[in-house]
Amino acid sequence: MKVAIYPGTFDPITYGHLDIIDRATRLFDRIIVTVARNPAKQPLFSVDERVFMIRQCVDELEAASRIEVESFEGLIVDYARSKKAVAIIRGLRAVSDFEYEFQMALVNRQLSEGIATVFLMPHEHYTYLNSSIVREVALFGGDVSNFVPPLVASLLKKKFQQKNQN
Ligand code: COA
Repeated sequence: MKVAIYPGTFDPITYGHLDIIDRATRLFDRIIVTVARNPAKQPLFSVDERVFMIRQCVDELEAASRIEVESFEGLIVDYARSKKAVAIIRGLRAVSDFEYEFQMALVNRQLSEGIATVFLMPHEHYTYLNSSIVREVALFGGDVSNFVPPLVASLLKKKFQQKNQN
């Protein structure tokens, strides 16, 4: 049973992330999508909200029964070890992702030789996408339906309405 983890901030999850998860399910027996509790970022959605959204979205995938959704704090390699994962999945969208990803992969390898970082390329439709862009479009009332599933789009709308009321 080969387990891989797919860590990220997922604020919020996009079609690009879902594309990577879908691809990963074809390579591994079990995928654990895990939301990082990252003190350096000030996310729009709480960890629980992000976990909820991801759970709902992955339920639509063919391999839903082999995907788990959790959150983690601390080093990703420690979390991976605790889950007996053999790989950390990362998406590579463009050359601009490479340097940061290369650095993380090498640091993680120094910390834990046994855990490989596996890079997957999302569908070319999604190479321009990231969560900040989606948040910005939603903030100004733009249509995000090409970027995120309907549930995420409606929660984004609700979140910004709440923020505007405060
Ligand atoms: N489709 C769309 N967007 C994607 C994407 C894809 N396939 N892959 C990445 N992105 C976007 C994300 O939406 C995010 O956008 P944003 O910056 O606008 O919010 C951005 O790319 C960064 O993505 P993410 O995958 O969430 O990475 P991250 O840098 O926020 O998180 C961790 C990286 C959590 C894996 C890393 O910080 C970590 O491992 N932390 C734990 C501590 C640790 O072990 N540190 C040592 C590691 S060297």
